[in-house]
Amino acid sequence: MPSPLPATVDATLALLARGRYVADRSLATALFLALSLRRPLFLEGEAGVGKTEIAKVLAETLGRRLVRLQCYEGLDVASAVYEWNYSRQMVEIRLAEAAGDRRRESLDSDIYSERFLIKRPLLQALEADPGGSPVLLIDELDRTDEPFEAYLLEVLSDFQITIPELGTVKAAEPPLVVITSNRTREIHDALKRRCFYYWVDYPDAARELEILRIKVPGAAAELSRQVVGFVQRLRKVELFKLPGIAETIDWTEALIQLDQVALDPKAVDDTLGVLLKYQDDIARIRGSEAASLLEQVKSELAGAARG
Ligand SMILES: Nc1ncnc2c1ncn2[C@@H]1O[C@H](COP(=O)(O)OP(=O)(O)OP(=O)(O)O)[C@@H](O)[C@H]1O
Ligand SMILES: [Mg+2]
Repeated sequence: MPSPLPATVDATLALLARGRYVADRSLATALFLALSLRRPLFLEGEAGVGKTEIAKVLAETLGRRLVRLQCYEGLDVASAVYEWNYSRQMVEIRLAEAAGDRRRESLDSDIYSERFLIKRPLLQALEADPGGSPVLLIDELDRTDEPFEAYLLEVLSDFQITIPELGTVKAAEPPLVVITSNRTREIHDALKRRCFYYWVDYPDAARELEILRIKVPGAAAELSRQVVGFVQRLRKVELFKLPGIAETIDWTEALIQLDQVALDPKAVDDTLGVLLKYQDDIARIRGSEAASLLEQVKSELAGAARG
């Protein structure tokens, strides 16, 4: 029995929470609609804000197979869809030759049968599954080139793939598709039109604190509040690359490793490389800027505590 899809936005929120994903209502709404209306969900956003994680959590909590297509420049049909197993076909041909004429006649249909087909993610995602249609994650689509995007558009329209030597493979039930992009280039309108679009933003302080509570439960409450306050302020500074949620989690874990129960200027300076990944950014923040940000965070938290 396939696990049922969530029936309401609240049920979608609860489903994500079960997978330890803290979503706001607007994201849960987009996901709920995408699932109910069987449309791909197109997630765009900065690095490390939790785009890929949504697909993983969805597969895990629904008990579906996760099929992941990691995109990169030069991705082609052979890596994304299917490929014939040439070496096995060669062996088969040799065997047929050795066996004489009788086997050679049926050889052609033989070596282009499913036995010799290597199925890549897009084809795998169309295969029926007793556990329900899989979650197809097409990750970092902006890294591929436009011809591949056009091909994908076709697949996402009909959920079928034609293999010239074999015929057409069509999904009995379309997969649950999640597409992500870091927006290093714009994805074509034609593809976006087939999807529900959602911009995954940096979380506000309350949501980021909740994420830390769930993902790094060992952190002292004071440390978590300061970390979140610091990262939230850091995101307002003009930097080459702002820290994502992944960095907030990493930084908190690093500080725990160093036995920090609260932030101090030295601990911040020593661990900035966990948070910022460009030397120019680190040089800009390290020292007086970090100390000043920390001061602001501490006085803000003290003010909030007073009431
Ligand atoms: N809302 C959230 N709730 C819980 N954990 C989250 C949330 N958002 C992000 N995370 C955590 O942050 C980490 C990074 O998330 P993820 O890999 O999905 O980011 P991404 O947006 O796909 O980044 P990239 O663009 O670099 O691939 C994950 O390990 C995930 O656990
Ligand atoms: Mg990702």
